[in-house]
Amino acid sequence: MWRGLLHHYRDYLPVTDKTPMLSLHEGNTPLIPLVHLSEKLGVELYVKTEGANPTGSFKDRGMVMAVAKAKEEGSDTIICASTGNTSAAAAAYAARANMRCIIIIPDGKIALGKLAQAVMYGAEIVAIQGNFDHALKMVRRLSEMAPVTLVNSVNPYRIEGQKTAAFEICEQLGEAPDVLAIPVGNAGNITAYWKGFKQFHEKHGTKLPQMRGFEAEGAAAIVRNEVIENPETIATAIRIGNPASWEYAVQAANESGGKIDEVTDEQILEAYRLLAREEGIFAEPASCASIAGVMKQVASGEIKKGSRIVAVLTGNGLKDPNVAMEAMNVQPTVLPNDEEVVFAHIQGAVLQ
Ligand code: F0G
Repeated sequence: MWRGLLHHYRDYLPVTDKTPMLSLHEGNTPLIPLVHLSEKLGVELYVKTEGANPTGSFKDRGMVMAVAKAKEEGSDTIICASTGNTSAAAAAYAARANMRCIIIIPDGKIALGKLAQAVMYGAEIVAIQGNFDHALKMVRRLSEMAPVTLVNSVNPYRIEGQKTAAFEICEQLGEAPDVLAIPVGNAGNITAYWKGFKQFHEKHGTKLPQMRGFEAEGAAAIVRNEVIENPETIATAIRIGNPASWEYAVQAANESGGKIDEVTDEQILEAYRLLAREEGIFAEPASCASIAGVMKQVASGEIKKGSRIVAVLTGNGLKDPNVAMEAMNVQPTVLPNDEEVVFAHIQGAVLQ
């Protein structure tokens, strides 16, 4: 039976005899081949569906490690800034570990499902009239002044936990893919994957992929090489103008022969619809930056035809029902509770 990341990858993680074996059975997520899109693009494309984690995003991998270590070190309170997924994971693992969880989020810029999770898991929620970068600055200062453990990805245990996704990909494919495509927000995840691929390669000779990270155009600080004061994108999860792991992301791209690139909101939404309609996979908008990026770079020739690519789908589509309803602009047809009327309508639809 799968017992979660701390059990399964114990030898690769800072797990000691004193570490509580916290688990919501995170990790071990599916790697799914995209049959239609692969054919269309002339590549071998897979998605790592991190939305299958217990709270619906990749954040569970890092959070299980960070919260277990906080508990081990005697802390009773964790704190984080978040665009939504980090706070959902923090709140869940804090509940599981019987700890207090405080989250600071940008008011009005959190997807509904993520906010619902923080509420349900019992976090103390502060919504500031500012963005993620402001919130992160606040929690960093606060954690220096008060006895609370910061669980944003500047906490090295988060990166340790998140690197396990790279291990799983190598195990699922037998070796690393040619290209790893991943959305970039605060840049912790691309940092973690690169660390994971390198560590697994050293131990098992599984090779190294090109790391290709994608920011949203309105929040593309790394691509522009400047802090964006007012980042904007429909992909609220990556609405970040001053990524904390900026230099590590650049390093991952450079060392691996990859690139940090940007995609527009239109490209993100196109990938979002395509993935759902043609592959049956519903990922949240920020996740689809990876697919949008693959489409962009296959078209430009930067990703070669025939490449084996893994795109990371970082979060579940159900997290953000509002963007889905707005993007599709489809409303159910309301009819009376009458078989004849309903059948006539369906037949009409079929014959059209
Ligand atoms: N995709 C999703 C769904 C995310 O929630 C995030 C980050 C990213 C991609 C980017 O990952 O920051 O490691 O580069 N969400 C953070 C949060 C910021 O607060 O939930 P990153």
